[in-house]
Amino acid sequence: MSGPKIVTPPFGRSKQTQDSPAATETPGRYPTTRMRRNRRDDSVRRLVAENSLSVDDLIWTIFVVDGENERVPVDSMPGVVRYTTDVIAEAVNEAYELGIPAVGLFPFTDPDRKTPDGAESLKPDNLVCTAIRNIKEQVPDMMVVCDVALDPYTTHGHDGVMDGETILNDETVEILVQQALNQAEAGCDTISPSDMMDGRVGAIRQALDANGYDDVRIMAYSAKYASGFYGPFRDAIGTKAALIGDKRTYQMDPANSDEALREIALDIQEGADMVMVKPGMPYLDIVRRVKDSFGMPTFVYQVSGEYAMIKGAVERGWLDEKVILESLLGFKRAGADGVLTYFAVEAAKKLKG
Ligand code: PBG
Repeated sequence: MSGPKIVTPPFGRSKQTQDSPAATETPGRYPTTRMRRNRRDDSVRRLVAENSLSVDDLIWTIFVVDGENERVPVDSMPGVVRYTTDVIAEAVNEAYELGIPAVGLFPFTDPDRKTPDGAESLKPDNLVCTAIRNIKEQVPDMMVVCDVALDPYTTHGHDGVMDGETILNDETVEILVQQALNQAEAGCDTISPSDMMDGRVGAIRQALDANGYDDVRIMAYSAKYASGFYGPFRDAIGTKAALIGDKRTYQMDPANSDEALREIALDIQEGADMVMVKPGMPYLDIVRRVKDSFGMPTFVYQVSGEYAMIKGAVERGWLDEKVILESLLGFKRAGADGVLTYFAVEAAKKLKG
């Protein structure tokens, strides 16, 4: 039995072609094919580009701190500051005018307000809620994304409540639901659970719906890894010194990939509108698998450690600042619809110029 016959033009050593060495080659091979033709000039490069990065892909992640008219630098994240609630809307407005569609808020909570149960997270006038109100009053069309997790508010720095060394799941979920409602009440558009407790997306969805917030979205940190790349963030929100142990009983093992798909599938079933992979650069394979498997709006978080690595090297002249946009485009190529990044404003300016 013979297989299907593949019809090709006569490229063998036929009479007509044997004089030309090029024509004796199989089509699709050098020297008939020269890949560089499609890279030769700017026009062709633009025409054949498969992916693009635009300001529409950016979510600007920002820190909020107590005080008045202050922008407090974060040592391990050069160029990043924590804004007080009276000036945050001004910064957000600048981002809005650059075309950035969304901001994500993270609070540096005064240590005096931290408790083992993170009760500060439920106060209607806490830092995040005050920031949401000010932003929504002054820049109403900017999408506001708020983290739901207890770590900025707990004395032990964990994302949930503890019994001895154990992070309690269901008890934590009950508090997270209240935290989400508190943020929705303040005007948050997009609730973003980053805690990695089981069942929290479904519980939050139900509570939002039951309280008239059925149009509030959930962007779930679905595949969030127990990563060393969060170090500078923990400086920025003041949880590094507080954190007892690590987060490996709830955040994912960096060795795993199939498990990420299970996490994503569960969050979709529970009502997530958007899913997220975090960190970004070391997990591009996960972004690709998630996008291919579910076709969901898929986001990726270029986390604080990634920012610090890139920014630190650029500042020292070890890397050219072009790597900023290159790193962001890499997320698009991997399948992300958008990127949470501390580079958003800088990137938007570069894209404009
Ligand atoms: C809190 C949270 C973390 C980040 C976002 N939300 C830290 C953590 O889980 O310890 C990290 C973001 C970053 O590193 O930029 N649950």
